Amino acid sequence: MKQTTFRLDFGLKKPVRVLHLSDTHFCVADERDCVRKRELAKKREHAFGIPTEELSSLWRESVAYGKSHDDLILHTGDFCDFVSVRLLEMLHEEMSGGEFFFAVGNHEFCQYVGDLDEDAQYKLRSVEEVRLASPNGLYFASRVVGGVNFVALDNSYYLVTKAQREMLEAEVAKGLPVALCMHTPIHTEALFQQMTVTRGRPCAYLCGTPPVLTQHYDEYRRRQQTPDQDTLDFVDYVKNEPGIRALLTGHLHFTWQEEVRPGLVQVVAPGGFLHEMLELELV
Ligand SMILES: [Fe+2]
Repeated sequence: MKQTTFRLDFGLKKPVRVLHLSDTHFCVADERDCVRKRELAKKREHAFGIPTEELSSLWRESVAYGKSHDDLILHTGDFCDFVSVRLLEMLHEEMSGGEFFFAVGNHEFCQYVGDLDEDAQYKLRSVEEVRLASPNGLYFASRVVGGVNFVALDNSYYLVTKAQREMLEAEVAKGLPVALCMHTPIHTEALFQQMTVTRGRPCAYLCGTPPVLTQHYDEYRRRQQTPDQDTLDFVDYVKNEPGIRALLTGHLHFTWQEEVRPGLVQVVAPGGFLHEMLELELV
């Protein structure tokens, strides 16, 4: 497996090592779910181009490495490709060791991939089950490891609430350097260019993309990815708050690191179905 290490400056006396996993996209359903769900599992497994046994073996290899080498195993969402009885069991079983910290992804709430009505109401259908299976809270959570305050929040639908920002401000006020963990990366010019120009995608799939840019998206993606004022305020706060040192994200399925401003780095972890592993060394 290809291994990449990013070194991030947190001003620590002793380094903290993090295995950063994301977007595993396990696609499994059994007889406890309906035929449509079981067919979806097969179709999606095929779409990712990797049999579940092989994906499981990549997962086990990564987790074994993280358990023996790292202080924390961070997963930034889309462990499950969709909601099924077996996938929620797997989320619970696989992340039950105390070393896991989790930022939920959009696919954790997918009933059937491709649903067009993914909004707060839609999320309610599964949020409680996902929360019970998860190693920590979904809406907002924090955990201190080696003098770093890891904060996770749910921005899986491209939105962040005022209450989440206020909870983040309270964590920053505690004075430890903050690593903000969330599924969807925040908008930067470099990442927007990377997605829409270099990779030729029809939209950037980022949180807080200015409406002047999302107006060129198709109607569905524009509705999905245009930020509200609270989200724009959140992104503005994150970009300017010196206590926040890193944004640890996923969702895009490729490895990425950029300086958002001096002292703030944004990292995107590779998809778990790729033969890649990302380790972060916080120093
Ligand atoms: Fe995602």
